[in-house]
Amino acid sequence: MPSSGTAPEGIGLKRHFLTTLDRSAAELLDLLARARRIKSGAVRPDFRGKAMALLFFNASMRTRVSFEAGLARFGGHPIHLQPGKETYVFEHRDGAVMDGATQEHVREAAPVLSRYVDCIGVRKSDLITTGAGNADVTGSWQELRGDEFLRAFARHAGVPVVNMESNFEHPCQELADRLTLAEKLGDARGRKYVLTWAWHPKSLPLATPHSQLLSAAALGMRVVHLRPPGYDLDPEVVAVARQRAEAAGGSLEVTDDVDAAYRGAHAVCAKSHGGIGWFGKFDEERRHKESLRPRWIVDADKMGRTADAIFMHCLPIRRNVKATDGVLDGPRSVVIDQAENRLWAQVALLEHLFEEWRSR
Ligand code: CP
Repeated sequence: MPSSGTAPEGIGLKRHFLTTLDRSAAELLDLLARARRIKSGAVRPDFRGKAMALLFFNASMRTRVSFEAGLARFGGHPIHLQPGKETYVFEHRDGAVMDGATQEHVREAAPVLSRYVDCIGVRKSDLITTGAGNADVTGSWQELRGDEFLRAFARHAGVPVVNMESNFEHPCQELADRLTLAEKLGDARGRKYVLTWAWHPKSLPLATPHSQLLSAAALGMRVVHLRPPGYDLDPEVVAVARQRAEAAGGSLEVTDDVDAAYRGAHAVCAKSHGGIGWFGKFDEERRHKESLRPRWIVDADKMGRTADAIFMHCLPIRRNVKATDGVLDGPRSVVIDQAENRLWAQVALLEHLFEEWRSR
């Protein structure tokens, strides 16, 4: 049964899954071991009687279907909602005078949903836009990195809230990528992982590359963030990733040396993302990065310099823009397995959260 109350601030935030930065290494390892047991069929979660509301402010295929299929497979029931389209436009700011576009405050929406369901997933990335030039994005990176809506929603929810991709992090992708790296490389410690920036016509969010950097770091890999100047990730994420890597026997390097980065790599993960310094000046950024296009694509030549590296991408991917057909269709591409692992990682996460919440 869902909790009848509103989660107390502070305590509640620890119980949600908004970030992996507040989860211990042991806890994340336990989650991944659970995912492997479920995937192998050794154990079977029981989600009968459980419902989860999935709030998508942005488009999705993998996240939506993997949560829905994962719940349904084990007896649970997903409820998909598109705020602003089939439900109301939500407000999250305390003290807001709601005489504009917003119609319902999270102070009501979150606790009401919590009376109906056992878990709530929220995808809200302000950086994903439908326009060609990210022109409708407002707010600086410093404002958006705090994921205020998600955190306000979690504060007022009485059931666990799962971050299905925010401005700052995509923690479910992190779990799936860790699972994939461990499956494909075995003990990944000391292996070389390259997270490479790739050219893309838009300025894409930072959440996924943040979570990808954190995933490989936690495995003790030699992590290389390969990016052109001006495309560093958030300093807090880089610092935590470095701590995680070093604690697990690995390292973290940031470079723009394409040749050196690919040399001897065991895993190459491509990701496009906007530059923090270009934030709010997306048209300017687009003109600036046009010159980067020819060099910043994953192709057979670059992959040929690796130690027969696997190729990873979170998907969706624009073919022959971020990676060539040859790489994506080649024998070392693991993108489909990686996408499948979203399902197993999230089923494990839900089982863990249901147990954790029950024991409060
Ligand atoms: N990787 C990922 O989150 O995919 P979707 O955007 O399709 O959910």
